Parts: sequence; structure tokens; C-alpha cells
Amino acid sequence: MSKILVTGGAGFIGSHTVVELQTAGYDVVVLDNLSNSCEKSLERVEAITGKKVPFYKADILDREALENVFTKEDINAVIHFAGLKAVGESVAKPWEYYENNIAGTLTLVDVMRKHNCKNIIFSSSATVYGDPAFIPITEECPKGQCTNPYGWTKSMLEQILSDIQKADNEWNVILLRYFNPIGAHKSGTMGENPNGIPNNLMPYITQVAVGKRDHLGVFGNDYDTHDGTGVRDYIHVVDLAIGHVKAIKKLEENAGLKIYNLGTGHGYSVLDIVKNFEEANGVKIPYEIQARRPGDIATCYSDATLAKEELGWEAQYGIKEMCEDSWRWQKNNPNGYED
Ligand code: NAD
Ligand code: UFG
Repeated sequence: MSKILVTGGAGFIGSHTVVELQTAGYDVVVLDNLSNSCEKSLERVEAITGKKVPFYKADILDREALENVFTKEDINAVIHFAGLKAVGESVAKPWEYYENNIAGTLTLVDVMRKHNCKNIIFSSSATVYGDPAFIPITEECPKGQCTNPYGWTKSMLEQILSDIQKADNEWNVILLRYFNPIGAHKSGTMGENPNGIPNNLMPYITQVAVGKRDHLGVFGNDYDTHDGTGVRDYIHVVDLAIGHVKAIKKLEENAGLKIYNLGTGHGYSVLDIVKNFEEANGVKIPYEIQARRPGDIATCYSDATLAKEELGWEAQYGIKEMCEDSWRWQKNNPNGYED
């Protein structure tokens, strides 16, 4: 049986996706250089699914290593998560981001086509909409100006993959634009494992809850939103993972080029998240209002109708489960996979 190669499969979204793919009966191979993850996440996957996860520790920039994987394994489709994703770091190290994300993807795609594997699902982001022209954001919303090199790598890679598909219609390309993934596997054994000080809201909140950080800094309360704090479309990582299984089924129909938002369609402010987290878990989150974070926008949430109509996918989990599951993971694993 042919297999699905998951690049970046040891990471946060990738590892949860491997669980859902194996559960749905797919044969999966993971490739990851472990630059922002560790192999332990895959042991946790195996414990949940009861199946082995074949793993190659390799870099997508390493053509020989990719050749080796495609020669040994019968890969029919790639779900491409591998990439660097820290917004602030990308401003300081643009070359590293363009090299890793863009040159890495070009190498991957070149090896894929040499092995006649022309099916790819790419992890894109709502960041490509920039400051969105309208809300809720449909896929028709024009792409905008990104405020950092990370965002540009997503925007450029969308263009590159679209052009490749246009030039050769044997390619099937699905661009998935994720909104804000949070939550963790219900088992409490898998979750987000950021290095150092978390950049993102939910891991910061859980680290405050577990006592690793003193209080949350709320970046601005003077936005044009219901309480002045930034509004985002938070989506449970397991819902996001299931979205990839649905997208694989779409690829199997020879979909051509498709673009889908993966979000819930609901917007929550920073203070809504704090309140929901406190209520769901009975833990207090002290916070302090701070200055706006450069590059942030006021509001970003999706219209997720297209994914429902064309993929038969819709988020199942609400904000309460996202808060409970994020906390269960952090509480059981205060140091992430290091324990
Ligand atoms: P993550 O850092 O947990 O996972 C990415 C994985 O890719 C890591 O395991 C890392 O070791 C690996 N990797 C990085 N560069 C590599 C390379 N050159 N070769 C091989 N492996 C490499 O991040 P995540 O949150 O799971 O995100 C997965 C994908 O989704 C990324 O492409 C990210 O940009 C995108 N995305 C994430 C979010 C989010 O908020 N988490 C939102 C939108 C899009
Ligand atoms: N925030 C705080 N304090 C923090 C962290 C975040 O107040 O310590 C606020 C932000 O200002 C924003 C909201 O919480 O209003 C969400 O911020 P995140 O950093 O969690 O998420 P972003 O929406 O800024 O960006 C994330 C990913 C991007 C991705 C985007 C997709 O980091 O890579 O979602 O919508 F592109």
C-alpha cells in the first residue's frame, strides 16, 4: 500500500495529524530534522495508535536524504509541515527562514516530481491575508502584506506551489490556511512543546497556570474589538489534524489546486481566552495590560464554509475543550517532552 510522507511530523500539528492518519488506516512515514521537536512525540503517537511510526531524522534541504526516503518508501502523497515558524525570530533571521522554508520546499518538491509523487498538502496560515480586507475571512479574501519574513515564506510558497500545479496538472496541491491552533490530544500525553519563552498566547497561559511564568502580558487593550484585546479564531489541534485526513481524501479525487481555511469561524479576544481558561480549569491567570505587539492585527477569524462544503470537515471542539486539553497536557507534562 502506498504511504503518506509527513514532513515535520514530530512537531505539534504534525504529530497530532499522524495520530489521526494512522487511526483512519493510512500508512505514514515521518521525516523531521528535530530542530523544533523531539522523537518522544512519536513514541506518544505510537502509544495512542498502537502502530509503529517509521521515522527518518533528516532535513528537507538534504536532497540525498530525501532521495533515500523516496527510493525506499512507496510515497504517494506528502503532508508538508516542516518549517520554521517563530515570527519574531524570522525578523531577526530572514535568510535562515527563506532558506529553510523556501529552499527546503523547492528541494522536497523537486525530489517528489522525480519520483512521480505529485500530491502535496501544504501548511499555510491565515497570516497570508495580512490585515484582512474583510471579516470573516473567506478564501476569496485577497492576500495581503505580511508583516514578517515567516509570513512571506507562506505567501510565496503558496504562489510557488500554485504555479507548479498550473504548469503540470498531474499535480494535486491543497493549501490549508490554519487559523490559531491550540489544545492538545485528549490523552494529555501530546501537546505543544515550545522552546524558551512562548510566543503564542495559549502556551504562555498554560505556563502561567503551571507556575513557570508569573503572569500573562496582554498585548494591547485599545484595539477596535469588543474588549479592546486582539481577536483570533482558535482551533483545536485535533480538529486541525482531522482536516488533513479530509484533505488527503480530496487529493485522492485528483483535486487539482485547492485552498481551504481551517478555522472554527468564531473569534475570541485575549481576555475571552483568559476567562474561558479560568472557568474551564479552575485556575487563576494573573495578567497585565502591556503595549501592542508590533505587527499584530485587531481581528482575524475565518469563514470556514468552503471546507465544510468541499471537504465535509467542520471543527467539532469548542473553546472549553481547547482550554481543558491544553491544560491537561501542560499539567501532566510541566516540561513538555523533557520529563
Ligand atoms: P512545529 O515547530 O511544532 O513543527 C514543525 C516541525 O518541522 C518541527 O518538528 C521541526 O523540527 C521540523 N522542521 C523544521 N525545519 C525542518 C527542516 N528543514 N527539515 C525537516 N524538518 C524540519 O510547528 P507546528 O506548530 O506543528 O507547525 C507546523 C506547520 O504549520 C509549520 O509549517 C507552521 O509554519 C504551520 N503553521 C503553524 C501555525 C501555528 O500557530 N502553530 C499556524 C499556521 C501555520
Ligand atoms: N497575545 C498576548 N500575549 C501573549 C501572546 C499573545 O496578548 O503573550 C495576544 C496577541 O497579541 C494576539 C493573540 O494573543 O492578539 C494571539 O497571539 P498568538 O501569538 O498566539 O497568535 P497570532 O495570531 O499572533 O499568530 C499565530 C501564529 C502565526 C500564524 C497565525 C495564524 O503565531 O504563525 O496565528 O492566524 F500565522
